[in-house]
Amino acid sequence: MPNTLWLSAVFLLPVIAAIFLYQLDTFEPAPYPNHEMPTPNQPPLFVPRRNSHMLQGSERIGEGQLPAPEDLAFNLETGVIYTGSEDGWISRVQLNESVVEKWVNTGGRPLGIVHGIHGEVIVADADKGLLNISKEGIIKLLTDEAEGLKFKLTDGVDIGHDGLVYFTDASHKYNLKEHILDLLEGRPYGRLMSYDPSTQKTRVLVRDLYFANGVAVSVDQTYVIFCETPMRRCKKYYIQGARKGFVDTFVENLPGLPDNIRYDGEGQYWIALATGIYPWNLIQKYAFIRKVNGILLRYIATPRLERNGGVIAVDLDGKPTAHYYDPNLFLSSSGIKIGEHLYCGSVVLPYIIRLNVSQYPATEIASLRMLIYII
Ligand SMILES: *[C@@H]1O[C@H](CO)[C@@H](O)[C@H](O)[C@H]1NC(C)=O
Ligand SMILES: *[C@@H]1O[C@H](CO)[C@@H](O)[C@H](O)[C@H]1NC(C)=O
Ligand SMILES: *[C@@H]1O[C@H](CO)[C@@H](O)[C@H](O)[C@H]1NC(C)=O
Repeated sequence: MPNTLWLSAVFLLPVIAAIFLYQLDTFEPAPYPNHEMPTPNQPPLFVPRRNSHMLQGSERIGEGQLPAPEDLAFNLETGVIYTGSEDGWISRVQLNESVVEKWVNTGGRPLGIVHGIHGEVIVADADKGLLNISKEGIIKLLTDEAEGLKFKLTDGVDIGHDGLVYFTDASHKYNLKEHILDLLEGRPYGRLMSYDPSTQKTRVLVRDLYFANGVAVSVDQTYVIFCETPMRRCKKYYIQGARKGFVDTFVENLPGLPDNIRYDGEGQYWIALATGIYPWNLIQKYAFIRKVNGILLRYIATPRLERNGGVIAVDLDGKPTAHYYDPNLFLSSSGIKIGEHLYCGSVVLPYIIRLNVSQYPATEIASLRMLIYII
């Protein structure tokens, strides 16, 4: 008898402790809006062509010198890619020789990056806010709050032909280190905003967004596309014409969680997918699983479940054309296409991935193999 008692205590105590922890923990995730989302077993958007092993044949650019190069901005005139790393450095990568030069350090965590219309570089720095870095390398803060609410995770940025800057704050509650908690909590703390350099005014365009991430001004300059990571969608906010001020869907039910979106100048937007849909589709559905996850994350650690990260290409209307991904790739954060090469940024890898898409193209999927693709 005492033996069984002892045994049950050994097994039960941790369970009881866990239940207490669960009950007492103040982290209370909210249900995601079901009516706006695909159901957990709904197949993702059909993409006609794919390369499911994009790491095969890919090269590593700047290996060891670019810790987690999140977003990539190409300068056509100089042949240089600008990218921000987790050590705060903005680096310049000379493409013809793959030479990496550390340019300036923001002292924060540069994420979204875009070339301005006066030779400057505009950076969405997760810690600092929206920054302007002049040609000479002088860093100036443009804005770090709107409507009395400070940014906590300035994330994506793009610029219109008129010089207006569009950017996102993914969350005004959680910073970059805590960003998983934002996804687990399931409340919309993100905002899409604009910054007007002529008036130095910051305007909130869309509020209550779920982890507002990548931003791209449309080719015809009539709307701004912005991605909502946990919702697996990108929306458009009209900045011109009869629908000015309205929000519409650009693409939804993506086969992964979107990060940055970039236009290639040839009819395609490239949307980085941090991870495939599984297991996020299940975790998202159940608030209690997200609560357990949140507790584990803060007290122990959670296993890495991300896989099948990559990039999806969509046309001007948001229709998918090609999907590049790999089972061993996760937390890819940007994709830009330069000539025959696709370049991918990442928030974990210490290099940029380069793939020759003429040599390793996405090919048509036979309908039978669709099943495997969905899984
Ligand atoms: C690479 O480009 C730079 C700048 O355009 C140029 O100075 C350099 O000679 C080029 N190197 C090669 C190997 O083409
Ligand atoms: C950034 O700073 C440069 C140099 O002061 C200036 O020419 C440029 O207009 C600024 N850009 C923005 C968007 O504020
Ligand atoms: C990409 O691959 C194709 C086919 O192998 C090759 O002809 C082409 O030169 C490569 N492009 C570049 C930029 O290396």
